[in-house]
Amino acid sequence: MKASCFINGEWVEPLGDKLVDNLNPADPDDLIQQFKPAGAREVGLAINAAKSAFERWKNTPAPARGRLLLKAVEISHRRAEEIAGVMTREQGKVYPEALGEVKKGINLLEYYAGAGFRLEGQSLPSESQDCFTYTIRRPLGVVGLITPWNFPWAIPVWKAAPALVAGNTVVFKPAELTPGTAALMVEILEEAGLPAGVLNMVAGKGSVTGEAILNHPDIKAVSFTGSNEIGQHVISTCASQMKKVTCELGGKNALIIMEDADVDAAITATAVGAFGSTGQRCTATSRLLVHRSLREQVMVKLKNAAKGFVPGQNVGPSVDSKQYKTVLDYIEIGKKEAQIVLGGKPINQKGYFIEPTIFDDVSSDCRIFQEEIFGPVLCVSYFDTFEEALKLANNSKFGLAGSLFTKDMSQVLRYAEMLEAGMVHVNEPTIGGEAQLPFGGVKATGYGDREMCEDGINFFTETKTVFLNYSGSGDRSMVR
Ligand code: UN1
Repeated sequence: MKASCFINGEWVEPLGDKLVDNLNPADPDDLIQQFKPAGAREVGLAINAAKSAFERWKNTPAPARGRLLLKAVEISHRRAEEIAGVMTREQGKVYPEALGEVKKGINLLEYYAGAGFRLEGQSLPSESQDCFTYTIRRPLGVVGLITPWNFPWAIPVWKAAPALVAGNTVVFKPAELTPGTAALMVEILEEAGLPAGVLNMVAGKGSVTGEAILNHPDIKAVSFTGSNEIGQHVISTCASQMKKVTCELGGKNALIIMEDADVDAAITATAVGAFGSTGQRCTATSRLLVHRSLREQVMVKLKNAAKGFVPGQNVGPSVDSKQYKTVLDYIEIGKKEAQIVLGGKPINQKGYFIEPTIFDDVSSDCRIFQEEIFGPVLCVSYFDTFEEALKLANNSKFGLAGSLFTKDMSQVLRYAEMLEAGMVHVNEPTIGGEAQLPFGGVKATGYGDREMCEDGINFFTETKTVFLNYSGSGDRSMVR
């Protein structure tokens, strides 16, 4: 990383003597770099640069803005291994997972490159005679993007690409733990030809850098992904200043195995959703709901499948000492609430590795059933009927994703209707999203517009309605 800030087309060292360590969570003795975090001063400079660049960028034809993203697709393909390498060292996710994330980010760039041709408005009939009425989409201005450490490449891309193609200029604050991966996205978009000031990065702490973005009067909208605690603060801070806001927050996703399910397939999906990515994704499977008749079979197969996830080999560490402690604390809480049947211990080696962990017979009032842990920890509970399964799945303040394993079509359709979640999967893992499909959740998980797809463009634009009267009368013969 050249510096922690990219402002008006230049890498800039923030003022001040404070230094932040960027450590490898798989080996905390591996100090990747030290960087100076951005403060309110750098945020102010970045916002000014973005404000000055807005007029010209807004007036650049949208297909040309899209073509620039297409160029970034090409560069990202060429630099995919480099991005994945930086991500693995800085965030800890194993290399194949990192490469998968790079590809997902590239899909998003591809989707939004094409969106430059489709910044659609509508034309609709007017109540009046001789009046042409239509809508256009206009960019918002300078927008703030605040992103988490768990998908340090894909989430910045999925916010930046729609913001940019829609004609906004951006001030982007990556997580303090993963500035190196974020800087690569900025570097790539710069190499693709983004004019100076259109995309600015300020890496630093949420309480300083993030706060300065939220409270700056020239920020028109904020897109945030992260914890519920911070999300609520982001929402209320933005609301009090009438800034547009979208937040993608926690999850506690349940996978249901019905009596008629293909149990092997369900176990494969559960294990990848619970232990893959070290459980550090908001779409992770953190609750498994099993038809009581399958209890023994599922437990044997699940433990077996979990053994295929080996920390330090194909599973990465928790992202830092704080997250590591949070997960271990939850495991201690879980031991008092339910029966631990697998794992539960840190791995005796360098790095923040924890064994895949399973709690059995977890009742819905347990904290480990209700609270997001963000680690390789799975709660298993049992039910007798479909209605009971659905009730358990919905017994959560969160509502991001869920999955149902069954062959019964009527249950599938009822589930799709009745699950309180933004994303419903059938016979597949709870994880993942696709560029062209809406991503986000309900209840405490989501606030504001969905992300990705057309919804991403909606968030980063406002609609203008145009009444073009060609009657020549200066009046309108209508009821309005
Ligand atoms: C995915 O499951 O592929 O923070 C993406 C998160 C989500 C992204 C999940 N916003 O985990």
